[in-house]
Amino acid sequence: RATSVCSQRKLLVTRDLGPDTMSLLYAREDLEVVTWPEDRDCERSWLLDNVPGAAGAIVMVTEKIDEEVLERAGPNLKVISTTSVGFEHVDLQGLYRRKIRLGYTPDVLNNAVADVAVMLALMAGRLADQGVTLVKEGKWPAHNFGPFHFVGPQLSPVPSISTTRTVGFLGFGRIAQATLARLAAFGVTHCIYSTNPSSPHDRERDAALAEQLKLRAVARVDLDTLARDSDVLILLAPGGAATRHVIDEAFLRKMGSRAVLVNVARGTLVDSDALAKALREGWIWGAAVDVVEGEPQVGADHPLVREPRCVVVPHIGSATFETRLGMVRTAATNALAGLDEVDMPAELDV
Ligand code: DGY
Repeated sequence: RATSVCSQRKLLVTRDLGPDTMSLLYAREDLEVVTWPEDRDCERSWLLDNVPGAAGAIVMVTEKIDEEVLERAGPNLKVISTTSVGFEHVDLQGLYRRKIRLGYTPDVLNNAVADVAVMLALMAGRLADQGVTLVKEGKWPAHNFGPFHFVGPQLSPVPSISTTRTVGFLGFGRIAQATLARLAAFGVTHCIYSTNPSSPHDRERDAALAEQLKLRAVARVDLDTLARDSDVLILLAPGGAATRHVIDEAFLRKMGSRAVLVNVARGTLVDSDALAKALREGWIWGAAVDVVEGEPQVGADHPLVREPRCVVVPHIGSATFETRLGMVRTAATNALAGLDEVDMPAELDV
């Protein structure tokens, strides 16, 4: 809906946010709400054509908010509100230079993404994808109960056989800690993590987490140790230039042959060709990824999709009814707060 009253400020919305949230926006008579009309990702040309003069924009993770968009928008632009916790698609320097505020949606998706991280860890370890595919193709495996047929590494310990289990995290923010809490209930015994080396090491937090979750240790380690000692390694670090391909051939070669790698963060963290090679040549046991570099251009011929030991799902980490409703509401209230020049529920300091 777009009405034109001269004093109205334009709020661009690159995806219909659902009736509850859109009605919040439409209720504002001081705003002209201009919404991408289709039920698919907003086209760049539409964004460029409609952004001039906008005072605010609610965008998705699929829209690149770069110099070109900011220049086209012009001086009225006061707020970008992204419907995501990640913000790699937004040019922070460009925002900073223009004093444009940035809203995002942390916290509300922690549980949804942590659930998917555990799901993927289990699927990759226990060959779930291969099993489902065989059964759907009418190829229920014969001799399935040969003692070592269709086996994979177990996420939880087995008394007297394997008494320790170490989960590793690359990035140790709120989603990683929510994932750790779930894995503690599976009996994981140790947690190791690597994070931005310039961030302070919060030893008290780590000791408190270990005690609360009844783990033997929560320890910050270097990347070599993370690769070497993780039975399951879960990537939850931000994307962007600083972390691009941190999981490369050299890293993967250091991992254990029964280790499982899970990526629920950004595809750019992983060199896909190196991961496919690691799986093919058995340097690691399996992988499961919710994100792939270059998505959504990921066809059936993508090296990871072709790899039987790689589970690939299409960026569904936050895709639950409840979480997405929370995300769109936060995005809308962030945008309105930015336009009203008051505190946002969740603002990133750019
Ligand atoms: C995020 O919020 O950054 C997710 O990756 C998109 O759902």
